Amino acid sequence: MINYVDKIAELLSAQIEGLETDEIKGMIEQPQNSDMGDYAFPCFKLAKILRKAPPMIAKGIAEAIAEDGIFEKVEQVNAYVNMFISKTSFAKETIGQVIADDENYGKSTMGEGKPVIVEYSSPNIAKPFHIGHIRSTVIGASIAKIYDMLGYDVIRINHLGDYGTQFGKMIVAYRKWGNREDVINEPIKTLLSYYTKFHVEAEEHPELEDEARATFTKLENGEPEEVELWQWFREESLKEFSRVYDMLGIKFDSYNGESFYSDKMPRFVKELEESGIMENDNGANLVRLDEYGLGTALVTKSDGSTLYITRDIAAAVYRKETYNFYKDIYVVASQQNLHFQQWMKILEMMGYEWAKDCVHVPFGLVSLEEGTMSTRQGRVVFLEDVLNGAVDKTREIIKEKNPDADAETVEEIAKAVGIGAVVFNELSNYRIKDYVFSWDHVLNFEGETGPYVQYTHARACSILRNAGDDIVAKAKEGFDPQYITGESAHALSRLLYDFPAVVVEAGEKYEPSVVTRHIVDIAQAFNKFYHDEHILVDNEDEKIAKVAMVYAAKTVIRNGLDLLCMKAPEKM
Ligand code: ARG
Repeated sequence: MINYVDKIAELLSAQIEGLETDEIKGMIEQPQNSDMGDYAFPCFKLAKILRKAPPMIAKGIAEAIAEDGIFEKVEQVNAYVNMFISKTSFAKETIGQVIADDENYGKSTMGEGKPVIVEYSSPNIAKPFHIGHIRSTVIGASIAKIYDMLGYDVIRINHLGDYGTQFGKMIVAYRKWGNREDVINEPIKTLLSYYTKFHVEAEEHPELEDEARATFTKLENGEPEEVELWQWFREESLKEFSRVYDMLGIKFDSYNGESFYSDKMPRFVKELEESGIMENDNGANLVRLDEYGLGTALVTKSDGSTLYITRDIAAAVYRKETYNFYKDIYVVASQQNLHFQQWMKILEMMGYEWAKDCVHVPFGLVSLEEGTMSTRQGRVVFLEDVLNGAVDKTREIIKEKNPDADAETVEEIAKAVGIGAVVFNELSNYRIKDYVFSWDHVLNFEGETGPYVQYTHARACSILRNAGDDIVAKAKEGFDPQYITGESAHALSRLLYDFPAVVVEAGEKYEPSVVTRHIVDIAQAFNKFYHDEHILVDNEDEKIAKVAMVYAAKTVIRNGLDLLCMKAPEKM
């Protein structure tokens, strides 16, 4: 496919002395308003070099490049050169390329041979997997997909919160008041109730705290009975998390969480000591980071046990040594900003120059319409309930619209659309923004929502079915682009053309919402094209060209939905 920006930069560079082609490339703009062309070049910067007024310069350039075959016209407006790409060229290049690449359209080789770790989800064992967890889980899964598409070797890690003194408490509570059956039936709820009971009881019997500490030490020392119980709690909790991951179609390559690093600690404590950055404070150890505005970080407690931050230091080194990552991406809430800044700085101070390749990708809070969540006040919304609720509501809507559909199809679509709606909603906003979860918004089929985009995809599929296999096959072989140069067809071509660059941008910014917005734009442009033009017309050449365009739009929407971990049903 022609890279128009490269091509234009080349043409301009022949006209402009004193600026490098790359610099020119960076100055080329894509105007929002199509009246100003597909690409525009501002000449303000050139006034100094060429000692002429910018509009004069723009005029000279416009005249010099206008004759090139890629342009329909080139205009000078004030200090700008506005370039209109030939609509036929655009349609031919873009639609042809999408059809040729199909599911690979948007793929890049920029990441070839570069391992990238994406760490996401990482819930705490024996704690509710609630709506708040959707953020890391879904944003991370989408970033992993985006990096896959850019050609990186992606390693997906779930850094489970499966270690710490709370497990001492849980084991004590289980032994005193626990019941095996309950744990098996409802692991997280049951384990959480033990933990809560422990705290209530410990108010009156503070000696319980000592018992818990001693039990955790046994666990750390690898005493078989404690290890066995802890492992069982972990497995049962993981079963519950996995149900949600399955619903979302999300997978991990590794579940090495905090506990995995427990026996790797002595090495790091020693390294910290040797690097001379660690200070002893009444038996505890800390690293002072005040000069970086990062306060003080406690790395070991006075009883010698390590902390969350120490395990993150160990995990980063382990990952570097195991995967030799090019980047190690952490999709974790912005509440942990300081934590991440601290341990990354400590790594740097320890002399690990690759610390700069660790990237914290933060995101804001999700709240409920009825207020913030509170585990203590019982205001928790389980993610599994949200997903099931979305499927139930979608099932009702489908049955209402389509009373004769068979149950199996309804179920399949309800799952794809219901779960997709929640995921799409999650990935619609800039990740750093806080947002309020609202059912009305999520399941709206009209607004800029998942169901709207999926529905547009299904509509395109239905047009292709009506066109018939024969016409679709012909369209894939070739088409006459002159039939798809109308205003709305051209607008659609432009968006399809931009898709690969959008994937790159989303990857560079760690921002799936860039993809979400773009496929909403494509869906809207497609619906406008469908509204403005007759597609299945009598003239076969025209029909073939338009079907090619529908096929290309369908393909890019599907590839985009896939990056958001969403299904693209062919019928709805
Ligand atoms: N388990 C932690 C929590 O639920 C998140 C872990 C984030 N990842 C990390 N490497 N620290 O808050």
